[in-house]
Amino acid sequence: MCPLSHFILFAALRALVAALPHPSFVSIPLRRRSSLTTVDGAFDIDKAISHLAFSESKISSRLRSLGPISDTPAVHPTRRDTGSIPLTDGNNVLWYGTISVGTPAVDFLVDFDTGSADLVLPSSSCDSTCNGHTLYNPNTSSTAASLGQTFMLSYGDGSSVQGEQYTDTVVIAGYTATNQTFGAATQYSSNLQSPTFPADGLMGMGFKSLSIYGANPVIQTLIDNNVISDPVFSVKLASSGSELRLGGINSDLYSGSLTYTPVTQQGFWQFDGDAISANGNATLSSFTAIIDTGTTLILGDLDTIGPFYASLNATDLGNGFYTLDCDSMPSISITIGGTTFSLSSTTFNLGTYPTGSSQCVGAFTATGSLGSACFLFIPACDRRADHGHPSDTLILGDAFLRNVYTVFDMGQSRIGFADLA
Ligand SMILES: *[C@@H]1O[C@H](CO)[C@@H](O)[C@H](O)[C@H]1NC(C)=O
Ligand SMILES: *[C@@H]1O[C@H](CO)[C@@H](O)[C@H](O)[C@H]1NC(C)=O
Ligand SMILES: *[C@@H]1O[C@H](CO)[C@@H](O)[C@H](O)[C@H]1NC(C)=O
Ligand SMILES: *[C@@H]1O[C@H](CO)[C@@H](O)[C@H](O)[C@H]1NC(C)=O
Repeated sequence: MCPLSHFILFAALRALVAALPHPSFVSIPLRRRSSLTTVDGAFDIDKAISHLAFSESKISSRLRSLGPISDTPAVHPTRRDTGSIPLTDGNNVLWYGTISVGTPAVDFLVDFDTGSADLVLPSSSCDSTCNGHTLYNPNTSSTAASLGQTFMLSYGDGSSVQGEQYTDTVVIAGYTATNQTFGAATQYSSNLQSPTFPADGLMGMGFKSLSIYGANPVIQTLIDNNVISDPVFSVKLASSGSELRLGGINSDLYSGSLTYTPVTQQGFWQFDGDAISANGNATLSSFTAIIDTGTTLILGDLDTIGPFYASLNATDLGNGFYTLDCDSMPSISITIGGTTFSLSSTTFNLGTYPTGSSQCVGAFTATGSLGSACFLFIPACDRRADHGHPSDTLILGDAFLRNVYTVFDMGQSRIGFADLA
C-alpha cells in the first residue's frame, strides 16, 4: 500500500473513531519487567537490591525536595471520556505500556510510574547508555519544539539521567496531549538501560508539584485541555488482564465497593492508613503511605520494618531484607479507610533465600532513611547510624497493588481501593 492510501485509511479510521459514541474505551495493556523470583522459586537478591536502590533514591530525592525534613522525625511531602491501556507484565517488577510521541507518531514503551511526575524518553542524540531502546528524534517530528532547557535526575546508585526538555504531541490510550513537556535523555542511568529496563522511558503519574521540569504531567495536560472530562485514572496490576484506564474506572475489574481515602498532600499519591497486620495482629497502626506503581516491593524505614519482622521472629538478612519459615509465612493485611485488604501469599513471599533453603523472603523491605540524605546502597552510608530523621512514610508498591484495583482520583484528591474481581 502506498503512503497516501495509508493516510486515507488512517484518516477514515480516525473519522470512524471520532464518530463512535462515548464512552469508547481503548485499553492500554500493561506489562511487567523481570521478576525478583527465579523460575525455581529462589529470590534474586542482586536484582532486588538494584531495584530497591533505584526506588529508594527516586522517592528520597523528591521527599527531600518537597518536605520539611530537617526538624521533624516524620516526613510528609506536599503535594473526561475514557480510555484504557492493557498493561504488560514483565514478571512483577514494573508495569509498562505504549504511548506515541511526535508527528508522525512513534511508539514508545513506558513505565507508568505514580511515584514521579515527568515523562522521560531516550533521545536520538543519547550516548550508548540508551542502546536497545526506541529513541525520540525531535528532528523528524514536525510538532517538536525545544524548550532550550536541560534536566537531570540523580539516583542514589550514583547514576543519573540527563538531557534536554522538549514539547511535542503525546498520545496515550487514544487521547492526545498537545505541547506536552518531557525530557529527551542524552544519558541514561544504569537502571533505565536495556535489557535491565525493558521499557524505553518513564511516564510519571504523580502531581505537578513533583515535576522537576515544573511542567504539567501528561494526565494534567489531558485534564486541563478537557481531553478527559473525568480527572481519574485506574489501574489493575496482576499476572493477567492488567490495564491502565484513563478518565474512568473499569467496574468489571473489581468486586464489592471502592473504599476512598483522601490524598493528604498532592505530590506523591500520599494518604494516611489505619493498620498493617500480620496474622490478624496489628503490628503497625496509623501510617502514612505513598502509592508507587514504579516500586516493586513495600518499603519502609528500618524503625517501621524492623519491629514488624521482629514480632514475627524473622531473620534479618541485611540489605533491608528479612526471611521467615516458608512453611509458616504470615498472612498480611493492610487496613485503609476502615477496609482491610489482604496480601496474597504470592505477593508477600518473594521466594527462597538462600536458594533451596526453607527460608523465604518477605516483600516488606527496610530502606535507609527515606527522606534523608543517606541512601541504603551508597557504600559510605550507614543506614543504622542515620537515624536522625527517620521517616514514617511507607512506599506501597506492586506487592500491595497486585492485590487491589486502584483508583487515582485527581478531581477529588483521593485514592480508591477495592478487591480485584
Ligand atoms: C538534530 O539535528 C541536528 C543537526 O543535524 C543535530 O546536531 C542534532 O544532534 C539532532 N538532534 C537530535 C536530538 O538528534
Ligand atoms: C508550549 O509549551 C511551552 C512551555 O510550556 C510554551 O512556552 C509554549 O508557548 C507552548 N506553545 C503552545 C503553542 O501552546
Ligand atoms: C502482636 O504484635 C505486638 C507488637 O509487635 C507484639 O508485641 C505481640 O506479641 C503480638 N501478639 C501476638 C498474639 O502475636
Ligand atoms: C517468637 O519467638 C518467641 C520466643 O521463642 C515465641 O515466644 C513467640 O511465640 C514467637 N512468635 C512468633 C510469631 O513466632
